[in-house]
Amino acid sequence: MGKAIDIALFLHLLAVAIWVGGMVFASFCLRPALEDLSPQLRLPLVASVFGRFFNWVAGSVLVILGTGGFLLVKFGGGQASWPMHAMAGIGVVMMLIFGHIRFAVFPRIQRAVQAQKWPDGARAVGTMRQLVIINIVLGVVTVGMAVLGRGF
Ligand code: HEM
Repeated sequence: MGKAIDIALFLHLLAVAIWVGGMVFASFCLRPALEDLSPQLRLPLVASVFGRFFNWVAGSVLVILGTGGFLLVKFGGGQASWPMHAMAGIGVVMMLIFGHIRFAVFPRIQRAVQAQKWPDGARAVGTMRQLVIINIVLGVVTVGMAVLGRGF
């Protein structure tokens, strides 16, 4: 493998680790730990934590798109194996779901916190939680497909 491909793969996997690892931490460690807090404490914290995390995800998405596109071209473009195309397809779906969370659901949480409308905020957090779980499942399937689909 050429050096450029090695470096692209390294950055690709680093970005995937940050995105998927962050979602696992948020869903399975942070969320249960915040469950007993009152909405007045929990929702501003959620808004602040995810405002920061989503910047990391946005950076990761750009890196995954750039390196993934580069790798796809290097691995034959249209002639690349079907698991690679499946990875790209599911990857794009994950990015669209992230875009929906970041630009539709998250602003609802921020507005609810500002207006101190706690039930509205809690509802939006519930939606965000479900969408993040879907992206975790898609992320795990994608990693599995990328690795187990080698050699096709
Ligand atoms: C636009 C989206 C994406 C494109 C175009 C893309 C493309 C590629 C390509 C061409 C490779 C090299 C395959 C190989 O070395 O055999 C690769 C590797 C990999 N990608 Fe992606 N990818 C995308 C998104 C994702 C996402 C969202 C994930 C996980 C959540 C992911 C996980 C992986 C993994 C784990 C590998 C390493 C596979 C291995 O070398 O064994 N990719 N990607």
